[in-house]
Amino acid sequence: MRASAVATLLTMRSAPSAEQDLLQQINADKLPKHIAIIMDGNGRWAKQRHLPRVFGHRAGISSVREVVRACGQLGVKVLTLYAFSAENWSRPGAEVAALMRLLEDYLQRELPDLQKNHVQLRAIGRWDALPSGARRQLERVIEATSKNRGLILTLALNYGGRQEIVDACNRALKSGARQVNEESLSRCLNTHGLPDPDLLIRTSGEMRISNFLLWQLAYTEIYVTDTPWPEFRRPHLYRALLDFQRRERRFGGL
Ligand code: IPE
Ligand code: IPE
Ligand code: MG
Repeated sequence: MRASAVATLLTMRSAPSAEQDLLQQINADKLPKHIAIIMDGNGRWAKQRHLPRVFGHRAGISSVREVVRACGQLGVKVLTLYAFSAENWSRPGAEVAALMRLLEDYLQRELPDLQKNHVQLRAIGRWDALPSGARRQLERVIEATSKNRGLILTLALNYGGRQEIVDACNRALKSGARQVNEESLSRCLNTHGLPDPDLLIRTSGEMRISNFLLWQLAYTEIYVTDTPWPEFRRPHLYRALLDFQRRERRFGGL
């Protein structure tokens, strides 16, 4: 199925040849099961163009669309996108409001495409604290796509890795546990049931995790590109996959 997914993509006539060349080099049997992305650099992308930051966020939606489709077509099982961190509330109110509106619009507009591509939407983070419009859309799309069996698209919203671990501990305590171990704590995390990310991509060059998936990234391969998120497209994703496939993962062994 995986091998044929790459083969099918290769037959896409409209793809430019440079993109096809990259795709051809990907080993369909060595794809990451779970890709996590810190979608960074929207504001700087806009600033370079003398545009307000929100234009960068809006432009980033095309990147989301393309990466979601590509991951689904390649047969990647899980894609987790860092869309709004627990610390992002500290930004100016107008930017936060614009981000929430964009999220709401994206969910509303994207539902038919997600359905068509069998994408199952999930969310992690304390997303119950989002403004009601965005929260309602999120609930609606999660429910509507819950039976889809294609790519699991997880949006990290009002997400913080430390908060997630604290919430998991509290959940364990509430269930009567007096001690936790790696397995029982993992079960209390938002990402319960999903494999840990094999590959973390961060766009726009910063060499940091910014409180993303602190527990789950323990042995994840990290790929940082200078490309800002609004410019990230299939060829950038393919390059990240090729880089990943050249890595030797040792997990502490030899
Ligand atoms: C990422 O882009 C989007 C969010 C954090 C919501 P930024 O808004 O962080 O853009 P830069 O990093 O300031 O360029
Ligand atoms: C991380 O980006 C959060 C998201 C991409 C949603 P930030 O732009 O908030 O991270 P810092 O502030 O550069 O660490
Ligand atoms: Mg940033």
